[in-house]
Amino acid sequence: MTSLSKNIAVLISGGGTNLQAIIDNTENNYINGKIKIVISNREDAYGLVRAKNAGIPAFCIKDDEKLLSKLKDYNIDLIILAGYLKILPEKIINIYENKIINIHPSLIPAFCGRGYYGLKVHEAVIKKGVKYTGATTHFVNEGADEGPIIMQKIVEVEGENPEELQEKVLKIEHEILPLSVKYFCEDKLKLVDGKVVIGG
Ligand code: GRF
Repeated sequence: MTSLSKNIAVLISGGGTNLQAIIDNTENNYINGKIKIVISNREDAYGLVRAKNAGIPAFCIKDDEKLLSKLKDYNIDLIILAGYLKILPEKIINIYENKIINIHPSLIPAFCGRGYYGLKVHEAVIKKGVKYTGATTHFVNEGADEGPIIMQKIVEVEGENPEELQEKVLKIEHEILPLSVKYFCEDKLKLVDGKVVIGG
């Protein structure tokens, strides 16, 4: 049975390369969903320009109540946090339980939680000297980067500087985020004992 196309909201704070990956993969129908809105908490986020270029309604919203009413206005089924640097309030997390997907640029539970964002993640990875890092998609709960893990992919750390490592990790983010969203939109992500099982 094919599932109905899902209404997606993408929340961003910055450049929006992950947003672009979702735009591309909804436009080519790899994902059975439509981005209804893009919301940034920063007006200078380049992702807002990407959204407008793709003809998607895009807003800068800083207030959480306004954010919630916008999500309701657009009948949103799935919220994607694609580099959204603000913590979502518990109220929104509860309303959209297991309907919010975040992408994090490390192998959770390493190098995650409060303070680990942007380049700081990759700097910490290099400082520690781990040999592999990666990216993780997960459902969002009230803990920082603590919700059920959907998908992970690794890359080898091979003497890059933080910016180079960020680029390397972004490439795999652009693979696992669209794939996770694709599975969500096909109702293939099931929670069993608090863990995500990808099913047919
Ligand atoms: C990505 O590394 C993502 O994992 C993190 O913030 C960054 C956003 O990059 N949460 P972009 O705005 O999608 O280019």
